[in-house]
Amino acid sequence: MINVLFAARPERWVTYEAPLRTALEAAGITAHLAQDIDPAQVDYIVYAPNSSLQDFTPYTRARAVLNLWAGVEKITGNPTLKIPLARMVDPGLTTGMVEWVTGHVLRYHLGMDAHIVNPAREWVPTVPPLARERDVVILGLGALGTACAQALLGLGFRVSGWSRSPKDVASVTCFHGADGLPQALAKGQIVVTLLPDTPATTNILNAKTLAQLPRGAHLINPGRGPLVDDEALIAALNLGQIAHATLDVFRIEPLPQDHPFWAHPNVTVTPHIAAETRTVTTSEVIVENIRRGEAGEPFIHLVDRALGY
Ligand code: NDP
Ligand code: OXD
Repeated sequence: MINVLFAARPERWVTYEAPLRTALEAAGITAHLAQDIDPAQVDYIVYAPNSSLQDFTPYTRARAVLNLWAGVEKITGNPTLKIPLARMVDPGLTTGMVEWVTGHVLRYHLGMDAHIVNPAREWVPTVPPLARERDVVILGLGALGTACAQALLGLGFRVSGWSRSPKDVASVTCFHGADGLPQALAKGQIVVTLLPDTPATTNILNAKTLAQLPRGAHLINPGRGPLVDDEALIAALNLGQIAHATLDVFRIEPLPQDHPFWAHPNVTVTPHIAAETRTVTTSEVIVENIRRGEAGEPFIHLVDRALGY
């Protein structure tokens, strides 16, 4: 019998308890799964960074922290965490992100807003280009960025991507590293940011890099708020360098009522809903790592704490 601590907000226990038990049973793992276990007896910690558990020191026997979120920026720097940390790569979350990103890319590509909000009843038959005439760049070619790239390719878009290390994604023009960023940005008629929040990515979209996008570019940020320098973005929007931005994530969430993004006519704010972890598929991923830990196999989706993702 192993002890699995569920360390997330109590309301998440309500949604996760049954799927986790089902996944454990399906994997043939006998476990005591609970929200409250003597720390010295815990084998695995199923974790959300907004849980009250912030000091891992008493968890002397624990083998791994299994994060329920894709983003790990709130836990990578925790000095009390000395055991492996796995992040979430959930097929359900990935599907959600693909749908959200595709929808917002199509909104910009087709110029939908002109017809959805048209109080003057203007009849302006501007036919949108085809996807094959539109460049989309995705900053971040990981689990989510690659899946979005493939979906957009399927619709015919010309897709480029940018990552830290070199990548080879079929039919995607891949750039990497600091040297590759200006080339990637030059392809950004529509730019999607799916990078993690790390010291190396903070303000990656700033006055200089926003100016490297084609004039009138559209920005979609479902990654993390600190990827974008807010003031630089507002300046670029006011100059028309950026035509419109759709932002799902912010430095402070909920976005404060007096933040200029709310009032800006060329910004759409969505409340961090681009993609949710789905309890059934997430539980299967968590349990797969528990199975691996018990079988002495390497964990999947391990975080490189030095890189911060
Ligand atoms: P991954 O770790 O799989 O991918 C991250 C990508 O970013 C990789 O391609 C990586 O490069 C690249 N990258 C990291 N650092 C740099 C850098 N310094 N320079 C260039 N490229 C870099 O993450 P996911 O795709 O799973 O998720 C991405 C982010 O999406 C999450 O960290 C989270 O912040 C956000 N997210 C937002 C959600 C929402 O609802 N809004 C939901 C879920 C996630 P390389 O491939 O070389 O390692
Ligand atoms: C996540 C998120 O990191 O929802 O999972 O942003």
